[in-house]
Amino acid sequence: MRIGVPLETRPGETRVAATPETVKKLISQGHSVVIQKDAGVHASQPDSAYEAVGASVGSAADAFGAEIVLKVRAPEAAELKQIKSGSVLIGMLDPFDNDNIAAMAAQGVTAFSLEAAPRTTRAQSMDVLSSQANIAGYKAVMIAANEYQRFMPMLMTAAGTVKAARVLILGAGVAGLQAIATAKRLGAVIEASDVRPAAKEQIESLGAKFVDVPYETDEEREIAQGVGGYARPMPEAWMKRQAALVAERAQQADIVITTALIPGRKPPVLLHSDTVTNMKPGSIVIDIAAGRGDNGSGNCPLTQADKIVQVNGVKIVGYTNLASMVAADASALYSRNLIDFMKLIVDKDAKLLIPTDDDIVTACLMCRDGQAVRKNS
Ligand code: NAI
Repeated sequence: MRIGVPLETRPGETRVAATPETVKKLISQGHSVVIQKDAGVHASQPDSAYEAVGASVGSAADAFGAEIVLKVRAPEAAELKQIKSGSVLIGMLDPFDNDNIAAMAAQGVTAFSLEAAPRTTRAQSMDVLSSQANIAGYKAVMIAANEYQRFMPMLMTAAGTVKAARVLILGAGVAGLQAIATAKRLGAVIEASDVRPAAKEQIESLGAKFVDVPYETDEEREIAQGVGGYARPMPEAWMKRQAALVAERAQQADIVITTALIPGRKPPVLLHSDTVTNMKPGSIVIDIAAGRGDNGSGNCPLTQADKIVQVNGVKIVGYTNLASMVAADASALYSRNLIDFMKLIVDKDAKLLIPTDDDIVTACLMCRDGQAVRKNS
């Protein structure tokens, strides 16, 4: 089949949906690949690297005109118009955006959104949320260390002792656990919290202290388990107790990294405005949920999307696309997720064969034959 890889055009998007490594594999499987000119250039992959493994370099129309289009982000309206009816589009297409699903259906595209894959062992190698969140967790710590005006590790020098930075991580999923591991390597002292009971052991195994907000009812305990690997909104009473504990711990912290997301909903507020104003001057907040809350906020109402704001000497970093700031590795992992998914919908003869009984394929299918398949309430 002819596979197209367009240049990503959303502001700040530097990733690319195929690297020379994955293009080489696709070509060895019998496909042909056309890369839009400069599609990989922001991820340190020049056109010549793709040509060296057998791809051709072409225009946007060439890439969008292919039978299978590999994207990082959902195409803009003008881009979508260039995809032929009956073609397959695979990417992070935002499965909760009903308007986009309707637009893709109207274009006659068969679209797969990989964020919708189930959190199962078989789907792990195609789990784009995990591959990209892992990078975001790492980069959040790197940015915090860069913005912080002190050392991360404890140092004993001839000029005196420097205390280790205290890092508080709220939400210990894929991004939060990577943030713990990265901050630990830099020598910080770490505390972390999550709603899911399983997170306690994971936090402690990475050498951080678990900030426990005990459940007081069976309802709290049940909701905290989440569903299908995803968190659910916790009851108000638990959120209040969490906020009180976070307010106390944040005053001791030098760096707070918030990572809590709830798919398809606004992120929970974990770091209230008055908690931030009571933090020490010089402290840093990195809000990985930035841009997903009201007015571009995230887990903190003071966060502003893609900006660094200062409140009472506390810097709040609201970058919305941290994975894009590690574009080469983010693209490498993402493009491997994509080719693993493609194995499910392309047969041994390199022909499209979309199974209707595969739980990963059906979960990711947004629209087909002009009809929206996924229905969001
Ligand atoms: P996420 O990005 O949706 O959320 C990040 C974290 O925030 C989660 O751990 C969530 O529990 C936490 N959170 C949500 N509301 C919160 C609140 N009010 N207070 C504190 N924390 C809150 O989740 P992510 O990182 O995509 O995945 C979460 C978990 O799912 C993983 O740690 C893992 O256990 C599981 N998972 C399983 C996979 C598999 O089996 N294939 C693949 C990926 C994840």
